[in-house]
Amino acid sequence: MHFYRIKTLSLLTLSAFSASTLSVADPLQLQRGQQLYQEGMGTAQVMATMTVGEQIVEVPAEALPCAGCHGADRLGRSEDGVTAPDLRWSVLTEGRTAGAYTRAALVRAISTGVDPQGKELGVSMPRYRMSQQDMLDLVAYLTSTTE
Ligand code: HEC
Repeated sequence: MHFYRIKTLSLLTLSAFSASTLSVADPLQLQRGQQLYQEGMGTAQVMATMTVGEQIVEVPAEALPCAGCHGADRLGRSEDGVTAPDLRWSVLTEGRTAGAYTRAALVRAISTGVDPQGKELGVSMPRYRMSQQDMLDLVAYLTSTTE
């Protein structure tokens, strides 16, 4: 009995520790993620693939940074009838009819262009190829709260 109590306690301590290390974002990581979002620059080369008419073109992401369409404030933008949605994490996770985003779903959307329900996103949303580190940085930034 005694043994179990100690074991439970240490498990609780352990889970509290991992929860806090997960939620407290490293400020340098957020800074890198923000740079990638705003300027398309990661720690390694980031590439963006886009469909232009019949052609599929791949360009450095500096030419197509997220902020250029979704706004520097992540609130989304509409231009020429195309809407780049609001990317605030609260909006992507709460009260969505199209399925709530998780971190994994976000990675899928950015790299393969599908939403949480597996539905293909429009061609106006480029598909991005980047290092795992850069993706982690970007996701840390996107899941951090700004509001
Ligand atoms: C050229 C404009 C453009 C750029 C650049 C762009 N996006 Fe998008 N993005 C869009 C559009 C338009 C949609 C909506 C597509 C649709 O409705 O099918 C979209 C959709 C999304 C979605 C899905 C949102 C939802 O509600 O399901 C995510 C997530 C996203 N973009 C993240 C990013 C990130 C992160 C970057 C940078 C790495 C980026 N986008 C760069 C235009 C863009």
